[in-house]
Amino acid sequence: MTQRVFSAMQPTSDSLQLGNYLGALVQWVKLQDTHDAIYSVVDLHALTVSPEPELLRSRTRATAAQFLAAGVDPDRSLCFVQSHVPQHAELAWILSTFTGMGEAGRMTQFKDKSAKVGESGTNVGLFTYPILMAADILLYDTNVVPVGEDQRQHLELSRDLAQRLNGRFGDGTVVVPEPHIVKSTAKIYDLQDPTAKMSKSAVSPKGTIEILEDPKKVAKNIKSATTDSGSEIRFDREAKPGVANLLTIYSALDGRSVEQLEADYEGKMYGHLKVDLADVVVEYLTPIREAALDWIESPDRLDEVLAQGAAKASALAQGTLDRIYDRLGLVPALHR
Ligand code: AMP
Ligand code: TRP
Repeated sequence: MTQRVFSAMQPTSDSLQLGNYLGALVQWVKLQDTHDAIYSVVDLHALTVSPEPELLRSRTRATAAQFLAAGVDPDRSLCFVQSHVPQHAELAWILSTFTGMGEAGRMTQFKDKSAKVGESGTNVGLFTYPILMAADILLYDTNVVPVGEDQRQHLELSRDLAQRLNGRFGDGTVVVPEPHIVKSTAKIYDLQDPTAKMSKSAVSPKGTIEILEDPKKVAKNIKSATTDSGSEIRFDREAKPGVANLLTIYSALDGRSVEQLEADYEGKMYGHLKVDLADVVVEYLTPIREAALDWIESPDRLDEVLAQGAAKASALAQGTLDRIYDRLGLVPALHR
């Protein structure tokens, strides 16, 4: 049987950034060729940061638009909004009863986020967030989950929960998912602070490359990226994190290996690398940006794609949920 791939992103910004694209989306698109693929905009997850309703709505559509523009193909894969498939929240409840308090409390993303806002600003949803993520994955009998490095620990929890259910209720209760994290692009760094990951919530907007950004601004950010005081263009994550990050991005978009780029830029200055990379990035992102803006400008067409995705996803999800409910000893709901 064809292996299933599932992944998702939160609609927490107007535009995705290059780390989302290289760390995750590129793999999503590739895996469609070999796998049965399902991709979701996880709006219920985004509620944990209390978004403004209108922003949440527009960002949910914009995020889906960027999936499609990047090459998620609704004729081959399912693309849907999490809140349209109620089974996610239902399975999350079940899984929460199998998750230890300590286990959930050890999640570094929760610790980081709650430390930032302080205990009074933290909500229970932020704490149980990884359990909802496990539900997203297990609902579709997922084999493979393409994500960036920062999601590794959350995926480990999904695997632990899956193994726990199978141990207690028998093999085949759920499928144990595997992470798919491509080492070379698993972590794209901030252009201004190349020791921090590129993120939608970066301190300085100059450190981020946004997919929907005006290409001139994208070029400017790349040209003002932090490099080190030396001059040699060489991949050295420790000594030259800024240059290493630029070479990673360059190689991922242009297809030349990092070694080849080092050879091609021997004797040249950082400025050359940045000017060329700015061109490569702008050329690469422009068609994606335009396609995304087209989708955003036709919300009816977009909503139709998302509705079809949700209908199919919901049917699959219900099958899994029925199986799990039965194994757990819940009485069958004959009215359905
Ligand atoms: P998020 O922005 O946290 O919703 O992330 C969505 C997806 O993009 C997840 O699979 C992340 O692991 C991935 N991702 C986010 N930022 C980066 C980054 N700087 N480098 C690589 N992958 C990333
Ligand atoms: N937690 C992920 C992130 O912040 C988003 C996510 C939610 C996800 N559910 C998922 C990723 C299921 C992969 C599979 O990036």
